[in-house]
Amino acid sequence: MRKHPDDSRDDGYDDGFDDGRARQRRGRRRFDDDEPHHLTRGRVPAASFEGPHPSGADAASPAGLDTPPPGTEWSTWEGSLHGPDPRPDWVRTEAGAVDTELGVVKTGKEADVFLVRRHLPGTGEVSMLAAKRYRDGGHRMFHRDAGYLEGRRVRRSREMRAMTRRTAYGKELIAGQWAAAEFDALGRLWRIGAETGLVRVPYPVQLLGTELMLEFIGDWQTGVAAPRLAQVRTDPAGYADLWRQMVDALSTLARAQVAHGDLSPYNTLVCGGRLVLIDLPQIVDVIANPRGAEFLDRDVRTVAAWFAARGVPPETIDVDGLAERLRAEAGLR
Ligand SMILES: Nc1ncnc2c1ncn2[C@@H]1O[C@H](COP(=O)(O)OP(=O)(O)O)[C@@H](O)[C@H]1O
Ligand SMILES: [Mg+2]
Repeated sequence: MRKHPDDSRDDGYDDGFDDGRARQRRGRRRFDDDEPHHLTRGRVPAASFEGPHPSGADAASPAGLDTPPPGTEWSTWEGSLHGPDPRPDWVRTEAGAVDTELGVVKTGKEADVFLVRRHLPGTGEVSMLAAKRYRDGGHRMFHRDAGYLEGRRVRRSREMRAMTRRTAYGKELIAGQWAAAEFDALGRLWRIGAETGLVRVPYPVQLLGTELMLEFIGDWQTGVAAPRLAQVRTDPAGYADLWRQMVDALSTLARAQVAHGDLSPYNTLVCGGRLVLIDLPQIVDVIANPRGAEFLDRDVRTVAAWFAARGVPPETIDVDGLAERLRAEAGLR
């Protein structure tokens, strides 16, 4: 079973624990939770800020432009797969919207997350997106698959053979599959969250190949990402409240008969006092997967251990009772 990458700090993750020299060497700004960043310097092109575009383009006449304003690209909304309805009103769907890449949120082995500002030139219509780009490079794309793919039907095809042989095309397909799996999982959980209010995930705005674009969880003004649960320090009442939210989320997932599959204090953000679950490509169907109960159990024990270490009393957590309840809610026994 895979060890959580964030648990072993030797995995090349750019997680904010490196030294300043390393960061300078890479020469790019990050918007990580470990270290607040502000958009006051760096590579933010002036054209990305508010104000009428020099060409006079506005919401009504985007077609008047054949090139996007300097430092921006046309929005990739058209031609991508879109997130579920009801679509939040901040999602920019206009053909004249432009994207500005503001920096790196986090780099990892399998995916890199970038902060992207999508706005309609000449208007105040702005959205802030986290662009998660799955890599198709020569690394272990499949390290998550032990166990996770059990119970999923896999077709023997040219594509499958390319993936098995890890050809360049095969690797790109694998990366695209992880992106699609995460996009689906987020869409499904986002809908459940919208209906129940008991679980929160970033709204999945769009999927295009190996890139998914999500609601940016953090401060839309400064571009500072919400901290991961692992970095949050609060008082006993604060931990108790976060634990209650975690139990609601776990229970809601179990009732939907899924397990996160990699739930941890690193794959949970805290924004405005609310837990937000992220990083869901390996979501597990606990009924179809013969090890479903095991994944359910592991998720709950991983997060329970963190809350216990922060002083939430064992009787409040009652990890065995909770694990049993989740299995029952999932219909597993
Ligand atoms: N929607 C988002 N909003 C803000 N930050 C995000 C978002 N998605 C991911 N991040 C940041 O990027 C990091 C890596 O994302 P994650 O989905 O966990 O990918 P992985 O762990 O596979 O690299 C997260 O820990 C979080 O700090
Ligand atoms: Mg993660």
